[in-house]
Amino acid sequence: MNTLTIDIRKAEPRDASAIAEVHQEAWRGAYSGIIPHRTLISMINRRGPDWWANAIRRAATVLVIEIGGTIAGYATIGKNRARELRQQGEIYELYLRPEYQGIGLGSRLFKAAKARLADHGLRGLVVWALEDNQNALAFYAGNGGRDIAEGVEVFEQKALKKVAFVWN
Ligand SMILES: CC(C)(COP(=O)(O)OP(=O)(O)OC[C@H]1O[C@@H](n2cnc3c(N)ncnc32)[C@H](O)[C@@H]1OP(=O)(O)O)[C@@H](O)C(=O)NCCC(=O)NCCS
Repeated sequence: MNTLTIDIRKAEPRDASAIAEVHQEAWRGAYSGIIPHRTLISMINRRGPDWWANAIRRAATVLVIEIGGTIAGYATIGKNRARELRQQGEIYELYLRPEYQGIGLGSRLFKAAKARLADHGLRGLVVWALEDNQNALAFYAGNGGRDIAEGVEVFEQKALKKVAFVWN
């Protein structure tokens, strides 16, 4: 029997291509039909392997979840950007490859990201999700988040509501 190891760790530059792939597949899956097609494609294309290699080297922390050698997902974390919210930490993004969704890996990555922010001394946590992304809303509510604020993000003249979930 093969034992698959699940490892959550800081991304390294060698992970850049795999993360770019996860980003592309997860964003297509989550946002097709929500974000206008042209905008979505250009948002995806902007973030190729070079963009990710650069993001990994810079301050923003990129975490990956690796299953038996495959990068199944990533999260990016750092300081909360919304001044009106008092939580100090933020998960900017959390995405899994479609074939790895729905089996608990997102929850594992979320908990690891939350712990990492606390280790950095950041108290409280915020995550924003598009209101139309019902899976994400169910996921954050299921992981104990309270939805406390709303905002709007404009994509190619299409205004989409977003919801902030917080953990104190
Ligand atoms: C959202 C995402 C990170 C969740 O990770 P996951 O590994 O699929 O979720 P888990 O298996 O850990 O599920 C945890 C809980 O979330 C909720 N949930 C997850 N996927 C769901 C779905 N497709 N529909 C409804 N609820 C869902 C459930 O409440 C689940 O609890 P349960 O195990 O008691 O049923 C992942 O599905 C993903 O990457 N989706 C596409 C990208 C995305 O939307 N990212 C978030 C952007 S803000």
